[in-house]
Amino acid sequence: MSSSLIAVSHVYKSVTDATGTLDILRDIDFSLNAQQTLAIVGASGSGKSTLLAIMAGLDTPTQGTVHIAGQDLFLLDEDQRAALRAKHIGFVFQSFQLLAPLTALENVMLPLELSGHPNPKPVAKEMLARVGLSERLNHYPKVMSGGEQQRVALARAFVVKPDVLLADEPTGSLDHATGEKVMALMLDLNQELGTTLVLVTHDIALSQRCDQRLLIEAGQAQLIG
Ligand SMILES: Nc1ncnc2c1ncn2[C@@H]1O[C@H](COP(=O)(O)OP(=O)(O)OP(=O)(O)O)[C@@H](O)[C@H]1O
Ligand SMILES: [Mg+2]
Repeated sequence: MSSSLIAVSHVYKSVTDATGTLDILRDIDFSLNAQQTLAIVGASGSGKSTLLAIMAGLDTPTQGTVHIAGQDLFLLDEDQRAALRAKHIGFVFQSFQLLAPLTALENVMLPLELSGHPNPKPVAKEMLARVGLSERLNHYPKVMSGGEQQRVALARAFVVKPDVLLADEPTGSLDHATGEKVMALMLDLNQELGTTLVLVTHDIALSQRCDQRLLIEAGQAQLIG
């Protein structure tokens, strides 16, 4: 187990509210080695975002474990988990989650600043250029289009060159050409830096560019061709 970069072992997730209990994930079990690319596919509401959030330690499983680089995510306390995440994981949310009071450039500089980078500005500018946003450095999220915000979120996740990039529909708000550029950027990082890529996508063509595809259906996962 500790030899894989990510090991998801017998993960269950149920949520209970006034209307009853919903079993979102039932016994999800797979592992990924460094440098692999995995697409997670499945219908809307099948639990893809829930699984990704559990893999990042942002949500907790009802049962089961997730190991990242040999560490059991849920045996760590909140601070240790945040430190592990900062060291290894980049996360792109389906809802972008940019910080509204910060410009595009400041949003991308922030993770570099938090990790003590000596010269964040040129590095952040370079990453924004790679996602095609050199002309939008000083714009605030509220004046950017959905696709532009998505690209800022991607630049923010990429800029620290994480070992693992977990991306929830990273091209979902982009036109075909821009989506292609972003996918190419993710695959470049996978090649150049050995970034392990886990990608939720509804786009069959994108999923086929990953090494493996994991289909989530009725709370269960299976690797498909
Ligand atoms: N905290 C929660 N309380 C109640 N239901 C929840 C909660 N979180 C998720 N769900 C439900 O669990 C199911 C899975 O949600 P999830 O967001 O993981 O789906 P998804 O596969 O990412 O869907 P999409 O493709 O639309 O993004 C959905 O039916 C959702 O409504
Ligand atoms: Mg989702």
